[in-house]
Amino acid sequence: MDKFIITGGKELHGEITVSGAKNAAVAILAASILCDGTCRIENLPNISDVSAIIKVLYQLGANIKYINKTTVEIDSTGITTFTVPYTMTKSTRASSYFMGAMLGRFKRANIAPSGGCDFGVRPIDMHLKGFESLGAKHNIRNGMVELEADFLVGAPIYLDVVSVGATINIILAAVKASGLTIIENAAREPHIVDVANFLNSMGADIRGAGTDTIKIHGVQKLNGTTYSIIPDQIEAGTYMVAAAATGGDVLIKNVIPKHLESISAKLEEAGATVIEYDDSVRVQRNKPLRGCHVKTMPHPGFPTDMQPQMTALLAGAEGSSTVRESVWDNRFRYVEQLNHMKARITVDGRTAYIEGVHPLQGAPVKACDLRAGAAVVIAALMAQGTTEIDNIHFIERGYEDIVEKLTAVGADIRRVSVVSPSGAQVDVIS
Ligand code: EPU
Repeated sequence: MDKFIITGGKELHGEITVSGAKNAAVAILAASILCDGTCRIENLPNISDVSAIIKVLYQLGANIKYINKTTVEIDSTGITTFTVPYTMTKSTRASSYFMGAMLGRFKRANIAPSGGCDFGVRPIDMHLKGFESLGAKHNIRNGMVELEADFLVGAPIYLDVVSVGATINIILAAVKASGLTIIENAAREPHIVDVANFLNSMGADIRGAGTDTIKIHGVQKLNGTTYSIIPDQIEAGTYMVAAAATGGDVLIKNVIPKHLESISAKLEEAGATVIEYDDSVRVQRNKPLRGCHVKTMPHPGFPTDMQPQMTALLAGAEGSSTVRESVWDNRFRYVEQLNHMKARITVDGRTAYIEGVHPLQGAPVKACDLRAGAAVVIAALMAQGTTEIDNIHFIERGYEDIVEKLTAVGADIRRVSVVSPSGAQVDVIS
């Protein structure tokens, strides 16, 4: 029942520090079960997707020690089961990483289907193709994916579709297989490099992560490690778009500017200025936003996870824009919410056609999923008047302290908890 209430039309000015990368963190947490010893993982984002995976590790029998808000120690010696039931997997897509991690550790895995954002069909055929190449048989029984191998033996694996999840899952299953695995047409996202670096810090031998050919020489044993997660590319990009959308001037700290190049380029086309420093970027805009054309692609292309936020910005820009989604089948469900705010967007298949409207108008809307939620936050920051956003639990899956971070740069955003189902009593939290 919690909501965000945002009064828009204010430029954002100041500094925002980006948290650790969600999509690296969730994979690294699952990967921690592959080692004999304790993993100390630092720079974890404090978000519900990460808590969900830590909870699964705890329920499976791992010993979890929180050192502080962003650091956790995991000793998974106590895990003796290779079954992860639906009660543990339903809240996040990342629980699918237990397929590769359990297979790598026990040569067996029984994993229930994963939850996560709904963008249409989310197949796992590439994951299963990879496991099969390594020698694992699979069976889908009562919705559970059952995997079993006598031996895991390295093999060449060509991915017909560039898949982040399949690339990581195959690495997890192959890291302790005997011999050499070569993944061709691998995904190249920054979080894949981070997972490989984490595993290498435990003694794995993975080369080529960040290119489309990844070579994994299997090792017999992985040891405990201390590892710090990279900054979140998409959280950084979201605040870059927010700064540009409101015509502000924001220094976004703790980023890897190289990871943000495709986002910086599009923001500059749309009328913003982006200045790169060693580990921060400054986004300014003092001229009108103008429409442009965006097409999402696997890394290093424009990220699909920035598509809704960029569409929100372009909804308030001068002129016409198009946004083409080429990763997911159905990632425009949120457009209806932007149109409630007087945006003029039509969707035909995988393309959104946008006629810019200035200003957008505040309205009651909802977050349809994580990045869709970020898009309505950006639209609300640009809009005239007040916007109430429902379903904010989706947003909190991936954005740590979003209210505090936006408030610090001058946004008028509050999180309210509606205590009574009738809506009569409202308790302001922050
Ligand atoms: N695909 C297949 N077969 C497979 C796997 C994927 O056809 O076996 C297709 C999918 O249907 C999709 C495309 O390949 O069309 C890409 O899917 P991918 O496997 O790369 O996505 P994912 O691993 O399920 C991760 C992120 C998503 C992000 C995508 C694409 C995590 C936990 N999730 O999902 O992040 O959109 O990669 O970059 O890493 C988000 O953070 O908001 C989010 C949804």
